[in-house]
Amino acid sequence: MATTQIVTSDTKASQNTERVPDPCIVVIFGASGDLTKRKLLPALYHLEQANLLPQEFAVVGVARRPLESSFAPDMKEGIIAGGGVEENDPKLAPFVDRVKYFAMNFDDGTGYEKLKKQLAEYDGQFNTRGNRLFYLATAPEYFSDIINYLGEHKMAQPEKDKDGNAPWVHTIIEKPFGHDLESARALNDEVNKVFHEDQIFRIDHYLGKETVQNILVFRFANSIFESVWNRNYIDHVEITAAESIGIEGRGPFYEQAGALRDVVQNHVMELLSFVAMEPPISFQADAVRVEKVKVWKAINPIKLEDTVRGQYGPSTIAGKPVPGYREEDRVSPESQTETFAALRLEIDNWRWAGVPFYIRAGKRLEKRVTEITIQFKQPPMHLFQGGECHNSEAIEPNLISMRIQPDEGISLRFGAKLPGPSMDLSPVQMNFSYADAFGKSSANGYERLLLDAILGDGTLFTHRDGVEATWALMTPVLEAWKKNPIKDLPNYAAGTWGPAAADELLAEEGRKWRKL
Ligand code: BG6
Repeated sequence: MATTQIVTSDTKASQNTERVPDPCIVVIFGASGDLTKRKLLPALYHLEQANLLPQEFAVVGVARRPLESSFAPDMKEGIIAGGGVEENDPKLAPFVDRVKYFAMNFDDGTGYEKLKKQLAEYDGQFNTRGNRLFYLATAPEYFSDIINYLGEHKMAQPEKDKDGNAPWVHTIIEKPFGHDLESARALNDEVNKVFHEDQIFRIDHYLGKETVQNILVFRFANSIFESVWNRNYIDHVEITAAESIGIEGRGPFYEQAGALRDVVQNHVMELLSFVAMEPPISFQADAVRVEKVKVWKAINPIKLEDTVRGQYGPSTIAGKPVPGYREEDRVSPESQTETFAALRLEIDNWRWAGVPFYIRAGKRLEKRVTEITIQFKQPPMHLFQGGECHNSEAIEPNLISMRIQPDEGISLRFGAKLPGPSMDLSPVQMNFSYADAFGKSSANGYERLLLDAILGDGTLFTHRDGVEATWALMTPVLEAWKKNPIKDLPNYAAGTWGPAAADELLAEEGRKWRKL
């Protein structure tokens, strides 16, 4: 297929330096985990490099192990390796000096009193004025304890001074937020007893990705798309979140999760809401949230026959043997956990009724790619049948594809006339590449989310209603799957595009997944 490159104007990343927040301490619970070193500290350091952090700032890692002497050097390593930062970067040493560690058990109340005193000492040392961003990056079973103890020790609602001013406290809660509707509701109730909703930031790291935010700009800052963005012109929508990696040693976690809980209920449903929502009246958190929740609530209950689950079996990838899911470390040899899920969804509202949304997500698929495809209806073909056109079958429907990762960008497929004396046709593609237009970025998505949470901007976070609405959709599917175990697992070889049933889901309706 011919490819047309779009020329873009000279641009550079936007830097809104007015957004530098108040002095504060970021306190990360579960700081000995991978996330802190690989993502959070590199992201905080990128903010520091961009002058988006206050001068009066500190990071305190909290975990059980006694890592007092190794934590800061380890984080420095993470910033260099994961953040694309030079060892002799002038800001690095002063930043690492403000990275501290505190060892405690999350279920031991006395530890919180000591932590509170220690943080107050750091306030004195770094002039951070009592402002806190708590980041709950622990295993989910500790969320309740941490939240309740923060409440009990008055760390969630600090007292006002004599002028009536109190420091702010914000809390980021990592996923998974609950494992079904009931547990998500219970956790919401618990969290809301201690924190006001505007202090809570339920994180979904997909919302930090530039290309995800760009879906809204593409749709709402360009008048040429909105008029065709509906059931009159769109045939169907596909969302693929494919990973080539396996479960990476996370057997016990993944056995309890599976693809639907791990990726579909959160990341994929967020993508879907951005594609399908009505224009919000502003980008304020409440305005965006209302529109997202409306989309999720308009989705019809998902029928068992509109779902596909898969599990990868052993295979050879690039000449190397790869174990099947059931052979992975700490995974049951009879496991029913799905490493692949596909769903057909119907959004029953004025814009989308009758337009199927097909979504699929999985591990150990052929390649790592997250993409949204909007396929348009075919125009009437009569004009091209017979006569001067010899290849009317070459006309393919118009497509807009939004590549979230890797090679972030957007492309448009349309039909063109082949040069020559007859009216023969060829599909062509116009591509916009984020990296070509704006340069490569070493940001990992957490930069924007951390900054927003410090600033108290909840637009890119999930509200209570949102988590409950997506769990309300997924919980009946999980229950139906539990009641109807399937016998043919594993049903796809590692390194392929998932089970045959996922292709049949579309084939039954005369469609097929776009080749990625
Ligand atoms: C996480 C899941 O939320 O998202 C992981 O727990 C998954 O299993 C990851 O690998 C995918 O994120 P990304 O940004 O690599 O697409």
